[in-house]
Amino acid sequence: MSISIELIQKLASIVGDKYVFTDLETRIQYGHDETEDLSFPPGVVVKPANAREIAAIMKLANQFYTSVVPIGGQTGLSGGALCVLEGIGLSTERLNSILEIDEKNLQVITEPGVITQVLREAVAQKGLFYPVDPSSMGSCFIGGNLAENSGGARAVKYGVTKDYVLNLEVVLPNGEIIWTGANTLKNATGYNLTQLFVGSEGTLGIITKAVLKLLPKVEHNILMLVPFYEAGQACEAVSAIFKSGVTPSALEFMERDAIDWSLKYVEGINIVVKPEHQAHLLIEVDGNYPEILMLEAEKIMHTLENFSIDEILFADTEEQKNTLWKMRRSVAEAVKAHSIYKEEDTVVPRYELPVLLAGIKEIGKQYGFKTVCYGHAGDGNLHVNIIKGEMSVSDWNLKIPQGIRAIFNLTVGLKGTLSGEHGIGLVQKDYMDIAFNKMQLEIMEQIKYIFDPNNIMNPRKILPDIY
Ligand code: LAC
Ligand code: ZN
Repeated sequence: MSISIELIQKLASIVGDKYVFTDLETRIQYGHDETEDLSFPPGVVVKPANAREIAAIMKLANQFYTSVVPIGGQTGLSGGALCVLEGIGLSTERLNSILEIDEKNLQVITEPGVITQVLREAVAQKGLFYPVDPSSMGSCFIGGNLAENSGGARAVKYGVTKDYVLNLEVVLPNGEIIWTGANTLKNATGYNLTQLFVGSEGTLGIITKAVLKLLPKVEHNILMLVPFYEAGQACEAVSAIFKSGVTPSALEFMERDAIDWSLKYVEGINIVVKPEHQAHLLIEVDGNYPEILMLEAEKIMHTLENFSIDEILFADTEEQKNTLWKMRRSVAEAVKAHSIYKEEDTVVPRYELPVLLAGIKEIGKQYGFKTVCYGHAGDGNLHVNIIKGEMSVSDWNLKIPQGIRAIFNLTVGLKGTLSGEHGIGLVQKDYMDIAFNKMQLEIMEQIKYIFDPNNIMNPRKILPDIY
């Protein structure tokens, strides 16, 4: 849908001329996230300064029946911020203030355009801890984390974004501004509008302020890299560790190929991986008492005696810890930069992880594709990168959707679901029928309709196109 001159002029009168962009370069720049190589430039990019301006933009968009897509740090992995109908791409980058760090209540009030790592560092300076740490935390926005209910490596102990959200200020699609709840740790007052917005992928409104819960800073951790001779055994060890009574602050799985991609394409990771190691677990325990951490590490080692592992590497310096984390966090980026791929974000109850991994490999054989698997094993959350490699374009286009369907059928059959932390967005919506029946999808569609009867707020996301 092309954007009329009249609409552009009205947008400029709301945000000011210099915050409205119609040039192709800017539109292309805001037309992608980190999902494959997809590009959907908006018809116009606007950069409002506050909720009041966003509210005026939403009223205008309704009058003109023009779509509005909130755009954050552009690191999404399911295409949630892509402007599929062109329309208005609304960047939240100017709403980038941390408004208040409340040290008495352990809360922070922030705008959505703050980079996650910036927020983490700002609260850390006050001795506080915001644990949510997606791999993209150096560039993703809090607003995007809220929209996608992002997780990360520490989610296994500390939870995901939703677990830290107390209250939200939201501009609704009709241009009204509401708060969704209260700034309290407990709240049994009416429907939980706050959590309805978390993970709604920018389809129900635009979050303009968030009140987030914080924790006191955690002082110490121990990080270990455990090499396994068999990938299945690494997956089996995961639930055994929890059963032993230890809750690690991170428990990450990387199959051999995942590490190889990182080592090959990311500079400065000097870790030696022997050819016979088929997978690794990266395990961290944290807390404020080093003696307890030592006991927990020993307990993990004791559990691992039941598995066929090689010598454990304990990171003994901050630098080595950073290198190990870099190796883990760079997998997605390494695959993205050097292949044609599709990324799935499967999640199952933790104990089913070995079955999921074996099943995915079997499906790959059946459909003729290779997968690189890694992820947050402690959460049962396995990222599956399907690599095109030598596959012909016609096979890729025909067989991959069938293969993905098979993977999701397996996942849901194991009582899991389609996405643990990347969201559904654009690229997974056609598989929603695997996770939900008609009634469930209709309920979601009706919720969307209540908020956005003109379907202008990030349209064509989450629900399959028939809805
Ligand atoms: C990670 C991202 C891809 O875990 O979720 O690295
Ligand atoms: Zn992840």
